[in-house]
Amino acid sequence: MSRSKAQQIFGDNASAYANSSVHVRDDSLDIIEQMLSGYRFDTSIDVGTGAGFTALSISNISKTVLASDPTRPMLEQTLDASMKTNSPNISVIQNVAEQIPLSNCSIDLVTCRKAGHHFPEFKKYIKECSRILKPQGILVLADSISPENNKLEDWLNQIELERDPSHIKNRKLSELNMILELYGFKTVEQQSTKIHLSFKSWVDRTGVSTSYIEYLKQKFIDADAEIQEAFDIQFSNNDIQFAWPCIVMKCVKSV
Ligand SMILES: C[S@@+](CC[C@H](N)C(=O)[O-])C[C@H]1O[C@@H](n2cnc3c(N)ncnc32)[C@H](O)[C@@H]1O
Repeated sequence: MSRSKAQQIFGDNASAYANSSVHVRDDSLDIIEQMLSGYRFDTSIDVGTGAGFTALSISNISKTVLASDPTRPMLEQTLDASMKTNSPNISVIQNVAEQIPLSNCSIDLVTCRKAGHHFPEFKKYIKECSRILKPQGILVLADSISPENNKLEDWLNQIELERDPSHIKNRKLSELNMILELYGFKTVEQQSTKIHLSFKSWVDRTGVSTSYIEYLKQKFIDADAEIQEAFDIQFSNNDIQFAWPCIVMKCVKSV
């Protein structure tokens, strides 16, 4: 089987993701835990699990967790973490989000954090969530999004694509809402936050070459005031700090 761009990038950089502070824990994971506090689930799946941080979190409130990802080295990081944290209720499955090898109406909870912007066919993925979830099942999405303004959306997606060829799209909230509604999901809770990033670790994570790093840095320097303000761009300590908007949504399958 030939590896997709995502499998190449994530496969080659799996340990960098396993040690990335913005993936280990950040506001989005705290918000997911708040939104799910008090729930207990039989069978849950974490899609695009990466090094398994969200799968580990929901293993405390689920009898069984399937940690799903197409990239084998990422699943190995997840297995490693589940052993180190003594979480025997996590097992891994290798598949893309757009084709989940599970029966109709068999799952109680689907989570997906910081992965949806890598899915080439996001609509198909949401359709799969609707198929595998039981009626009234819960879908929690947490992901970077674009502002509604087209210029800001283009700048963000362009620079992300240049840093990471596996980037597909940070969608606008309006687009996410439209897709969720199309497949019968009702959003019952929603919280905005930001993903705070530093330029050096952001480029390191996808293995950007030295000459290309300078090119990307220049794009931040050349960004106009509207872009700098929208993404909290700041230059300090020989690095660049910035933030992408992020949304966490709790949705119920209501068809
Ligand atoms: C940034 S990591 C995920 C982080 C993780 N969810 C967490 O909470 O720390 C993105 C993951 O998406 C996966 N991915 C890329 N394309 C995918 C697809 N079409 N379907 C499912 N997962 C995909 C990658 O292999 C990678 O492991």
